[in-house]
Amino acid sequence: MPLMTTKPMFDLAYSGGFAIGAFNVNNMEITQGIIEACAAEQSPLILQVSKGARKYANYRYLRHIIAAAVEEHPELPIAIHLDHGDTVDLVQTCINDGFTSVMIDGSHHDYEHNVELTKKATDLAHAHGVTVEAELGMLGGIEEDVVGLSAEDYEKNIEKFLTDPDQAADFWKRTGIDSLAVAIGTSHGAYKFKHEAKLAFNRIEQIMKTCPGLPLVMHGSSSVPQEFIDLVNKYGGAMPNAKGVPEEQINYAAKHYGVCKVNIDTDLRLALTAKIREVFATKPAEFDPRNYLGPGREAIISMVKRKVGPSCLNSAGKAEAVIKHWEKLGKPLPKYYTK
Ligand code: G3H
Ligand code: 13P
Ligand code: ZN
Repeated sequence: MPLMTTKPMFDLAYSGGFAIGAFNVNNMEITQGIIEACAAEQSPLILQVSKGARKYANYRYLRHIIAAAVEEHPELPIAIHLDHGDTVDLVQTCINDGFTSVMIDGSHHDYEHNVELTKKATDLAHAHGVTVEAELGMLGGIEEDVVGLSAEDYEKNIEKFLTDPDQAADFWKRTGIDSLAVAIGTSHGAYKFKHEAKLAFNRIEQIMKTCPGLPLVMHGSSSVPQEFIDLVNKYGGAMPNAKGVPEEQINYAAKHYGVCKVNIDTDLRLALTAKIREVFATKPAEFDPRNYLGPGREAIISMVKRKVGPSCLNSAGKAEAVIKHWEKLGKPLPKYYTK
């Protein structure tokens, strides 16, 4: 039953040349696609749930879908994580719901407010044996909208929005978080770069110097595969100029730096949408959801298999080592893990 916090995973990933994929789940087919791929490749994984996913699916349903996944694959190390939690109340609810890890995202607040919110959430989560991720700096996409910036202006002034290495050290010291989401040039969604797709590796190096040993998290790390964009555009969609983070750059970050968690949501949405569009366009009489959601789920399986492989996250084959490490740590489990 290796449902666990992110600690055993990050302990090995930090210097082991791999990163854990954190995949957003919103329904059964997405969850099954992720889990089947990770089982086939024996890769540890994080299933993450946003506030929006909780609302869309009603968390009770998601909880049982996730429980079924854990039951189907007891050999896999799995963490259940809150993505972009915004309040201490939500963190408390997720702890009660059996999450093993939470993110508290105060990055849109001023620095002192972020410290205060993150410290409260961290103290609470740690008291229940749950690990905590927080964020410093500003990503593009959804977050730039918060302050009313255009994508163009965000990219032009990117240096200003990247995580400050000295501030990161102070933040870590004052909050006691277990991992830090850093702004290093990525953004949420399908339109990540107007110009060259490039991560700020020098900034990761600086953060690793001021925060040695702190596991780093990359949000907005979908690669926006061209095959899905082509299908979407061919079959009635309109996603011109969509661009993601090249998988070679994710691979470099996972292999050479302390990047331990890589968040992927957009690519799952694209795989499902591309296949549904294809079925609708090529088989206009189709009306059985199994016959369009099924191909979507298959597309997710092959995509996630590639992601966890040696050319991207490099976590394939690491499940057993993570479980052994978890056992060595005394099989730590959060207080409400059975719920
Ligand atoms: O970072 C955001 C994730 O992609 C979750 O998105 O809030 O629409 O579920 P959502
Ligand atoms: P993408 O939009 O690149 O998939 O990022 C997802 C994410 O960061 C979830 O927190
Ligand atoms: Zn995110």
